[in-house]
Amino acid sequence: MQKVEYKINLFEATSIEELDNEDINLVEKSQKVLKNAYAPYSKFRVGAAILLDNGKIITGTNQENSAYPSGLCAERVAMFYANSQYPNVPVKTIAITAFFNNDYIAKPAPPCGSCRQVLLETETRFKKPIKMILFGKEKIQIIEGIHQLLPLNFTDDFLK
Ligand code: THU
Repeated sequence: MQKVEYKINLFEATSIEELDNEDINLVEKSQKVLKNAYAPYSKFRVGAAILLDNGKIITGTNQENSAYPSGLCAERVAMFYANSQYPNVPVKTIAITAFFNNDYIAKPAPPCGSCRQVLLETETRFKKPIKMILFGKEKIQIIEGIHQLLPLNFTDDFLK
């Protein structure tokens, strides 16, 4: 038996000014849209902003439901909407910010497993790595490619 190691690469910044203007703008969009979250149960508001290859920006927020599992995370709301409106346009970048207890969270919150799977589908579909920016007040993380968050992944390859 052989031990196999998977490595992921990411970049970390401590201030938003370390990002380029395009990324700063996208993070700010994810922060601005937070007010539209519907999170009466968890009070955890999440905003996602997606930059498409054609320059359009699509935003989404988490939408909860009294039947808890029927709600949806901000990332999937935004990604499904982007793919619905622009089915042939690849995604360049997604920025995510969460807000809790009257402030942006200190450490960035990475997307849940289901969102990773959905984001990976878009990355695979357009054969183009999606940059992910996770905003936290103390730390900003940048990951080049969703596949890094799901090293052992299920894709359409298995269905061919
Ligand atoms: N949530 C997101 O919108 N994105 C994530 O990456 C993690 C969690 C939402 C789901 C739920 O409305 C609330 O945050 C608490 O889990």
